[in-house]
Amino acid sequence: SVDISTFTRQTGHTTLDYGFVNTSATTSAITFIDGDHGILRYRGYPIEQLAQNSTYLEVAWLLIYGNLPSAKELEEFDDRIRHHTLLHEDLKRFFSSLPSTAHPMSVLSSATAALSTYYENESDPNNPEHVELNTIRMLAKLPVIAAYAHKKSIGQAFLYPDNSLSFVDNFLKLNFGVLSELYEINPVMSRALERLLILHEDHEQNASTSTVRLVGSTGANQFSSISAGINALYGPLHGGANEAVLNMLAQIRESGESVQRFVERVKNKEDGVKLMGFGHRVYKNYDPRAKLVKESADEVLEALGVRDPLLDLAKELEEIALADDYFRERRLYPNVDFYTGVIYKAMGFPTRMFTVLFAIGRLPGWLAHWREMQSDPQTKIGRPQQLYVGAERRDYPGIA
Ligand code: ACO
Repeated sequence: SVDISTFTRQTGHTTLDYGFVNTSATTSAITFIDGDHGILRYRGYPIEQLAQNSTYLEVAWLLIYGNLPSAKELEEFDDRIRHHTLLHEDLKRFFSSLPSTAHPMSVLSSATAALSTYYENESDPNNPEHVELNTIRMLAKLPVIAAYAHKKSIGQAFLYPDNSLSFVDNFLKLNFGVLSELYEINPVMSRALERLLILHEDHEQNASTSTVRLVGSTGANQFSSISAGINALYGPLHGGANEAVLNMLAQIRESGESVQRFVERVKNKEDGVKLMGFGHRVYKNYDPRAKLVKESADEVLEALGVRDPLLDLAKELEEIALADDYFRERRLYPNVDFYTGVIYKAMGFPTRMFTVLFAIGRLPGWLAHWREMQSDPQTKIGRPQQLYVGAERRDYPGIA
């Protein structure tokens, strides 16, 4: 309904591209996706190999610095991160000013923005030492903030980081340990969480990463850019889908509605209901991450001794959807969020923590993109055009 010819006559050529479906805003050497063939590679390495063999921090190094680390580089990186895990005690008190009903994603984004206030003299985006230090600080402190958001939501005391533990084990203890009680790491849970975090570490120019880059392009520091990215991730069409999937499964189960009937409602677009965890802007084939998550769901639940009917329900939904013309014609397949929630739930995370786990997974990717943008001489402030469709010039008539 928009007359583009008027606009181009007036201002020269432009592209009207709702949702940036066909617009590249940058070049990037970090992640490669072939959505038609379901291929995902970080810095050239297939996601399947990284998920199988590496660790969260090893992949973080790869994304941020461009190559896999040597054993020595990884050890030093790990040591530096452990050195920075403590939060300022004042920042810990920041949490008590928020209601215990606060969504942990809001807590994470606001505490990340607040973290910036402690390092204002060391946050110059043009100073490589500051950039490096804050990269380490964020990798060290955001998992602690995430765990405190969890503890706050369940009314438990915050634990100090235990730097004798690996990154993931420390995170598990911060989330599930209880003061003065010994916390035993479950190796199955630890490895499963590590794999899930790796699968989320980057995904090129998705909404949250583009937000990080857009905010960063104004000269804003890493804390401000990444807290904006966390807010972008919160939405149910993006990272918030993992929480929405579990709520959808629970609702279907509680209501007693048949899966077939639910799928019919989705197809008829009744009340805008969608099959959450399905569809992707880039993948028009099975999301390779979803394939890996689905494979580990059975394995992890069995190893943890959990039997969850929601996993069976998810499988039934997938089977019915994949055989249906509506989903086939639109090339809608499960995305990474479809099966993750069932695993997080089996680990004991409350539903509202799921997107926070996604954020911790995605953090290295955000940092890598922020740094890539910062060091690219082509970077300009991000400033999309618009196509004005409002009133013609008119004269102010006076209030009377
Ligand atoms: N359920 C039902 N129909 C869907 C779904 C879905 N999950 N996803 C897309 N469609 C339909 C749309 O209604 C549209 O149908 P139409 O042609 O009849 O109008 C068609 O498929 C194309 O969909 P678009 O919305 O144009 O696709 P887009 O690329 O803009 O959106 C998105 C992608 C947001 C992921 C969408 O598929 C969706 O909303 N999925 C559910 C939410 C979700 O799982 N998000 C997580 C994405 S992955 C991530 O961020 C980690």
